[in-house]
Amino acid sequence: MSMMAPEAIQRLADVAADQWRAHARRWAAASEDVALYAQAQEVLTRAVCAWAGVPLAEDEIPERTRQLTALFDGAGAVGPRHWRSRLARKQADAWIARVVEQIRAGSLSVPEGSPVHAVATHRGLDGELLSPKVAAVEINNVVRPTVAVSVYITFVAHALHVHPESRRRIAAGDEAYLDRFVQEVRRFYPFFPAVAARTCRAFAWQGYHFPAGVRVLLDLYGTNHDPRSWSSPERFDPDRFLREQTDPYNVIPQGGGEHHEHHRCPGEWIALELMKGAARFLTRELRYDVPPQDLEIDHARLPALPRSQIVMRVISWSAEAPARAASPEVGISSS
Ligand code: HEM
Repeated sequence: MSMMAPEAIQRLADVAADQWRAHARRWAAASEDVALYAQAQEVLTRAVCAWAGVPLAEDEIPERTRQLTALFDGAGAVGPRHWRSRLARKQADAWIARVVEQIRAGSLSVPEGSPVHAVATHRGLDGELLSPKVAAVEINNVVRPTVAVSVYITFVAHALHVHPESRRRIAAGDEAYLDRFVQEVRRFYPFFPAVAARTCRAFAWQGYHFPAGVRVLLDLYGTNHDPRSWSSPERFDPDRFLREQTDPYNVIPQGGGEHHEHHRCPGEWIALELMKGAARFLTRELRYDVPPQDLEIDHARLPALPRSQIVMRVISWSAEAPARAASPEVGISSS
């Protein structure tokens, strides 16, 4: 949680914004179709490694992006995609364990206070450093899910495409609406459907009896769409957050409860800021068409995604476009 200070998250958002712009410059020059999901994975790999203090040479980027992506994109698959994910897990942990060892040996210096420095120099209650393997797992618990925000960014682009009014309001600079929009993207779209746990002891909760030692599932997607909490839950409506009650247990795309006490995801603010940054970029800076493609959400895939993973035909990019002057046409798409 100490890594999640607002200034730290802003630094990550700024690095990601720079990366989007560097990519956009290339897309506009190449005038090729752009596969957004794959591009977002690379943008976020570069951004999170720079932010966390993980050194990343230019020629390593395709391989590291592929490894980090396999950890969330293939873990829930069956067959070869799953096995590639397990191999990637070993490779990614070994890579970061070497970084930790180099920092401790003094052969690599990373900024004090960066997430990698914090974990590599952390001492447990016994006064000992974490083993390189455990330190690597902890660092990858931050790096991997940040790259996974590429899934949400793909949903952001999907929602902007199918809801032109949302695009118009965000393009016009309505930041309060943007806050509601990204919350609604997380509520509405599926990511991982459920989290699993095993009961330590028997207990009863709201009339349900849980025996000890059984596996239980928390239905994240079902809770986010529960008509007892949400009116017309199957409608995409960011303004519902003006009218409807939220609490730590009804909007739970990244787990429920309290961040400091429970297992609720500590990366929620990172996800929200990176989604907002991508939405600003897609509505205020980039002009693109969405050529005909299969935009249906594949609920059978883990994580779920639009089948086409969002292909964009880039027309132009301008970092200068001031938010309020942005024309509603900017970023508007054709199909
Ligand atoms: C990409 C979007 C993300 C989704 C959908 C997501 C989802 C989740 C879920 C469902 C949990 C488990 C909650 C539970 O067990 O009750 C979780 C835990 C966790 N997440 Fe995320 N997360 C995301 C992004 C992030 C980011 C960006 C970070 C860090 C930078 C992060 C770090 C963690 C950690 C460390 C935990 C374990 C917390 C604990 O057990 O106490 N996640 N996340």
